[in-house]
Amino acid sequence: MQTRVVAVDETSTEAINEAARLIRSGQLVAFPTETVYGLGANALDSAAANRIFEAKGRPANDPLIVHISSPDCLVEVATDIPESAHKLIAAFWPGPLTLVLKRQEQIASVVSAGLPTVAVRMPAHPIALALLKAANVPIAAPSANLFAHTSPTTAAHVLSDLDGKIPLILDAGPTQVGLESTIVDLTGDHPRLLRPGGVNRDALARLLPDLEVVTRYVLPEENAVEAPGMLLKHYSPRAELHLLDGTDAKVRLALAKSAAELMAQGKHVGLLIAEEDRTAIAHLAVPIVVLGSLNNLQQIAQGLYGGLRALDDTGVDIILARDYPADGLGLAIRDRLIRAAHGHIQLVD
Ligand code: TXA
Ligand code: MG
Repeated sequence: MQTRVVAVDETSTEAINEAARLIRSGQLVAFPTETVYGLGANALDSAAANRIFEAKGRPANDPLIVHISSPDCLVEVATDIPESAHKLIAAFWPGPLTLVLKRQEQIASVVSAGLPTVAVRMPAHPIALALLKAANVPIAAPSANLFAHTSPTTAAHVLSDLDGKIPLILDAGPTQVGLESTIVDLTGDHPRLLRPGGVNRDALARLLPDLEVVTRYVLPEENAVEAPGMLLKHYSPRAELHLLDGTDAKVRLALAKSAAELMAQGKHVGLLIAEEDRTAIAHLAVPIVVLGSLNNLQQIAQGLYGGLRALDDTGVDIILARDYPADGLGLAIRDRLIRAAHGHIQLVD
């Protein structure tokens, strides 16, 4: 199959209509959202949804997120919608917040990996909204990357993972948030934050005082050896990622020292750092990606996945990355880095 990449903006009615026709006929289309690029299929069509799992190499037990063009469409996707959902929708939709609710029967069960629940969000990107309106069906879409790889924030990232596997990629330039949506499960006795993302935990907790934050992995200090299964590999570059966690000064020393040691062992090392770290490692002749200033976590988030891919493209064996403070958007950045590090977390305090 030939994969076409078509540049679009809000005036590209023809390309958006073509994408909508493909979706309605059961095909896959990659499209931009404000978080990352999604790989879309008609959520009412099991065969179409199955194609997503096939194209990504994604296991069938990992459910997809359903996208809708307006809060009014929620009743087509979910039932028994609690009051808390309406509060969150009023505050955060359209935007990077996904709600887990009871699934409507008409949503293909493969979309939810057979679960009685469904994850749903209304994206804020104008192209995503235009496509949803033109297709006039809810669109199931995970991130448009190969399974367990870093999510795509540009059409080029999508192409590099899915070339030849899908007919069309709508290209609207780099995505704005850069990390996936926040996921909140509203189907239990109290709301649970399943994945930190574009919407802040603190902003959610103001509306949901009993919000529980679910830990998705075990840190070394929490005895990872006894729960190795918790350190799920996800969002990973090809190179091994080592995450350095500690105060800024110690992290900088450790970046320089670890890089030198690994180079002495003949390893090809790359660094994923913040602007403020630059002088501490300036003497090292290695590929470096500077994500932005520690004072601007939005910029760090935006560049994170692209930075990992850029370092992979240089052919490094090991990427050394600094950690970020675990509040605000930093919580989501840290979450993705911990997952990408797959247990290689070095505490340097
Ligand atoms: O920002 C985003 O959320 C992007 C864009 C494309 O919207 N999508 C995305 O999808 O990140 P994906 O497939 O990479 O992540 C979907 C995750 C699943 O891995 C699972 O953790 C969670 O959403 N999920 C989906 N349905 C669920 C359900 N019924 N119950 C619990 N978790 C669910
Ligand atoms: Mg994904």
